[in-house]
Amino acid sequence: MIIKAAVLWERGKPLVVEELTLDPPGPGEVLVEVKAAGVCHSDLHPARDDWPTRTPVVLGHEGAGIVREVGEGVTSPRPGDTVVFCWAPACGVCPLCAEGRAVLCDRLDRTTYRNKLPSGTTRLHARGQALGHFLSTACFATHAVVPAEGAVVVGREDDGTSFRALAMLGCAVVTGVGAVLTAARAARGSTALVIGAGGVGLSVLQGCTIARCGRVIVVDRQPAPLALAPGFGATDVIDPATPDTVAAVRQLTGGRGADVVFDTVGVPATLTLALNAARKGGTVVVTGLSRVDETAAVTMFPFVMQEKRLLGSVYGSGRPTEDIRQLAAWYRDGRIKLDELASRTYPLEGINGALDALAASAGARGVIVF
Ligand SMILES: NC(=O)c1ccc[n+]([C@@H]2O[C@H](COP(=O)([O-])OP(=O)(O)OC[C@H]3O[C@@H](n4cnc5c(N)ncnc54)[C@H](O)[C@@H]3O)[C@@H](O)[C@H]2O)c1
Ligand SMILES: [Zn+2]
Ligand SMILES: [Zn+2]
Repeated sequence: MIIKAAVLWERGKPLVVEELTLDPPGPGEVLVEVKAAGVCHSDLHPARDDWPTRTPVVLGHEGAGIVREVGEGVTSPRPGDTVVFCWAPACGVCPLCAEGRAVLCDRLDRTTYRNKLPSGTTRLHARGQALGHFLSTACFATHAVVPAEGAVVVGREDDGTSFRALAMLGCAVVTGVGAVLTAARAARGSTALVIGAGGVGLSVLQGCTIARCGRVIVVDRQPAPLALAPGFGATDVIDPATPDTVAAVRQLTGGRGADVVFDTVGVPATLTLALNAARKGGTVVVTGLSRVDETAAVTMFPFVMQEKRLLGSVYGSGRPTEDIRQLAAWYRDGRIKLDELASRTYPLEGINGALDALAASAGARGVIVF
């Protein structure tokens, strides 16, 4: 079929919205009519040439839509199901899947992280070339073919749930909430510091609310994200002009430092801040993604003597399929805010403006609505 999609032909250049050919779903795959797609910083990284992503590729990995067709052997989802994309479709049988660590599935390295479908192929074509499916998803498009395990059923077509809200469950929200509940296992009453209050950072704040953290402090280098943070559960925000952020965190935590620190930015300076602002015995969880060749220094003596823990966390560190379903239920129960998180909407043709707004930290999430 002919679809419309946003293609990155060359890293560092604007995306081009154009017509492409999408093959029908193969065995184990489904065709989804995309209804909404969140614009995540992980789309901006390849667009801005931070990562050596092979082009051409259709970007977009955080979205929701309706299943229109299923390939051979697929029993779930069914046509008419409302689905949220899961960009880490796990195989279920490799050693890490068997260990319960679906986000580390070995198949992701061979396929998803090479922007192929798990079948090893691509179903997107334009200008005589095959195009990559970014993170096995490619949902900056009117339609997407994804593996059945990459389409998490959260409802039926006519149940009236907002696609614009659901879309963000597929990356920012599952990553941020999972960082708190699954990676850090933040205890009730713990003090938290969240570095970066973008799509993931605001979702970390919501995780802190669910975990019933006590004081939740936020830092960001821009005023717009900071202004939104109290609405998502922050108790304190640190002004970007504050000369000594670590001292400010200590002052807010009785001189001790934070029990848990979330670095949602992921550059050397924020990792240093995170480690220095964590209390003795505290935990630092890093979700922010740097350039692929970035290195950072750790001052080793205090790290050891103060028994700090440093954890990387990808896609919520849990079982994304189950986590996305749980989060959809929490949204319906009013336990997490999604409507407020989708602060700006754009048509597909507005994708470059949406990426520019993200790069400028305009605040919360821009969502492409179809
Ligand atoms: N680990 C995962 O599974 C996962 C999932 C989604 C996104 N990511 C990554 O997480 C990062 C954040 O994604 P996002 O979509 O929330 O981005 P975003 O642009 O919405 O948010 C980033 C925020 O950090 C702030 N910031 C940037 N540099 C800062 C600094 N030095 N100090 C303080 N604040 C700073 C920005 O102002 C912005 O508000 C990206 O690197 C993205 O690729 C990782
Ligand atoms: Zn696996
Ligand atoms: Zn993402």
